[in-house]
Amino acid sequence: MDPNKKYRFDTDLAHFGEDQKHQGAVIPPIYQNSLFVFDTMESLLDNMYNNPGGPPHHYSRVSNPTLELLEKKVAHFEGGEACKVFAAGMTAVTMAIMSQVKSGDHVVTVDGIYGPAKVLLTSYLARFGVECTIVDGRDTQAIIDACKPNTKLIYLESPTSITFRLQDVPAVAQFARSRGIVTIIDSTYNTPIHMKPLDMGVDIVVHSLTKYYGGHSNATGGAIISSKKIIDNIIMNEVLMMGALLGPFQSWLFTQGSRTIKIRLKEHEKNANTIARWLEQQPQVKVVHHLGLESFAQREVFQSTMKGSSGLFSFETHSQDKAEVMEFCNRLKLFGRGISWGGFESLVVAQHVQPMDYAEPSWFIRLFIGMEDVEDLKEDISAALKAFK
Ligand SMILES: Cc1ncc(COP(=O)(O)O)c(C=O)c1O
Repeated sequence: MDPNKKYRFDTDLAHFGEDQKHQGAVIPPIYQNSLFVFDTMESLLDNMYNNPGGPPHHYSRVSNPTLELLEKKVAHFEGGEACKVFAAGMTAVTMAIMSQVKSGDHVVTVDGIYGPAKVLLTSYLARFGVECTIVDGRDTQAIIDACKPNTKLIYLESPTSITFRLQDVPAVAQFARSRGIVTIIDSTYNTPIHMKPLDMGVDIVVHSLTKYYGGHSNATGGAIISSKKIIDNIIMNEVLMMGALLGPFQSWLFTQGSRTIKIRLKEHEKNANTIARWLEQQPQVKVVHHLGLESFAQREVFQSTMKGSSGLFSFETHSQDKAEVMEFCNRLKLFGRGISWGGFESLVVAQHVQPMDYAEPSWFIRLFIGMEDVEDLKEDISAALKAFK
């Protein structure tokens, strides 16, 4: 690559940040080191106290060249100034939130966010005097109305896990900016291919790299992308004290995944659209919650905030019989019964949840559509649907 030339997105996906020569190696090597030595004591001390995030790097609890390459790429794809990568998506979520709140602060979030993030905001942080209000995120005015003078943070996830509900991200970000409230969004579902929240005015983006960045279900990881000021602050506080960064080998795997993320995402999206359209015609199915469907309830918000959907959606059946729901899941042969998603393989998980506007809990069956042939997947689902009497 010519370091002085600005390339287009797809070229960047393949090559961005790889301007160092490593003896001609096409794939940059893994720096599997805990520490790095310096020529002089003065330069080590200067690095430790004035530039702990590197480069150059002095200690892998804080930074490492293999992580740095992935961080450069992820920051660039997201349109952010800087990035830090962590041992899991939840580590990134936790570090990002902890970096913004203190005792006495109030947080607003939306109904349906990823379970452990909800636990962190509503019960764990309550131990430290942080209060949280949950509202129906489809209603921007409800988010605005929930804000108080001490609201420090609005935490978003669009679409929400399991229920697939959207927020009007630019509208919320604009309001938050006008009030000096920080916004964080979990954009794992979207990836930077389908949404660029920083361009919409969001302050901090978090990702579970475990999902689409990885793409092969072989590592967990997370990323925070934001301004250099915010990331430097996280390095000087949360990272210095807690570490919890991604390991060099995992970083190397996610760098591999980042090169093919776009073509994989498009394939998942195409397959999921086909299956979701077919599934909503099946008599056992009450509703399919998939962003890519013409019938999707928030189609306008989807079209105005995202460039596409992806391989993940849920559906509810007319039958709410637990034994039948379990039997459906157990009959599937091509869908693994497992959490997580974003890899090459199809997955199913059933969850009994009660969205704020539901009178009672309902079974949401979430499918992740992998790289298998859609006709084989349809036949598999079709056979399993016979579990519903
Ligand atoms: C939307 C979303 N955010 C965050 C996470 C947490 O990521 P990790 O499992 O890498 O900690 C998940 C995991 O399933 C997720 O689905």
